Amino acid sequence: MNIAVFSTKGYDLRSFEQVNAGYGHQLTFFEARLTADTASLATGFEGVCIFVNDEVDAAAIETMAAGGTQIIATRSAGYNQINLQAAAEHGVRVARVPAYSPNAVSEFTVGIILTLGRQIHRAYNRVRDANFELDGLQGFELREKTVGVFGTGKIGAAVIKNLSGFGCRILAFDRYPNPEIEPLAEYMADPQEIARQADILTFHIPLTPDTHHFINKETISQLKDGVFIVNTSRGALLDTAAIIEGLKSGKIGYLAIDVYEEESSLFFRDLSSEIVTDDVFARLLTFPNVLVTGHQAFLTDRALQNIAETTLTNFSEFEATGTCKNEVVWEE
Ligand code: NAI
Repeated sequence: MNIAVFSTKGYDLRSFEQVNAGYGHQLTFFEARLTADTASLATGFEGVCIFVNDEVDAAAIETMAAGGTQIIATRSAGYNQINLQAAAEHGVRVARVPAYSPNAVSEFTVGIILTLGRQIHRAYNRVRDANFELDGLQGFELREKTVGVFGTGKIGAAVIKNLSGFGCRILAFDRYPNPEIEPLAEYMADPQEIARQADILTFHIPLTPDTHHFINKETISQLKDGVFIVNTSRGALLDTAAIIEGLKSGKIGYLAIDVYEEESSLFFRDLSSEIVTDDVFARLLTFPNVLVTGHQAFLTDRALQNIAETTLTNFSEFEATGTCKNEVVWEE
């Protein structure tokens, strides 16, 4: 199939070219993000491959459909960036990569908890500056901490398995409890009860209209004082303005995030010589108890290989059979 790959980075190019040797699709790589303004680049491509910060809104889909695009495959698990209703209206089929390496994200989640909880990021900078002072680097131990895990699908379950090894007590919340982790976690039907008990909260539910600003001014007031909030799912699960107020008051003791609600105008590019105009984001970076990474939890060698394989299989399945097991369909 003739496929346009948007938002291409060096690691995408390398993994897709290597894996495509076994598939034989015609891949054309664009560095540009897919938006309504760039969608015309897809003209003549039956398949379009996108990533998390492409903006596949109704206007972009209309342009692509007019140019002959029939399939949009996101090389991610989440698909909140795609207007599924518009795709359905234009007969454009959508597929995703439901799982490529839950451990890539779960291990990163544990990594940022340990980094911030033990001040490893600050220690790294101090030692490089020949500053071996320990004052200010005091941390806490994970053993016997109560961790609230929201979302116990593939990634949340892997996080629970990882954190169990540290001796944490795990409280879990999900619409559909996962029997695999029931021996390791205590499911609670009321998220507020978890909020009241947990020292650490970590989010692994998808972003949907229901979960938008899941953590907001009101829910923050119910949390334990000094709570540690972790988000490696999607930025808009947290109301960042309310989080900043929580950090200023000391209600929130630690914040470790790999995702940010306005990340599409920031992440995945080098802005080190430019002025960051997002004042909310800039304020976040001023707190010593905040760790921000730029949506890299997925980025491992195994995950990239699996992402390329599943994405190219999705295109092949549509081409051969007209259907795809990883299709995402619009539900009213
Ligand atoms: P999954 O679909 O296996 O699990 C999601 C779980 O959330 C399911 O068990 C579901 O029942 C539950 N859920 C959904 N809506 C809910 C609600 N309103 N209330 C309670 N539970 C709800 O998804 P997976 O693979 O574990 O991924 C989770 C999220 O992680 C993705 O949606 C994506 O946003 C994010 N992600 C982030 C990455 C990164 O690089 N930072 C990489 C991959 C995924």
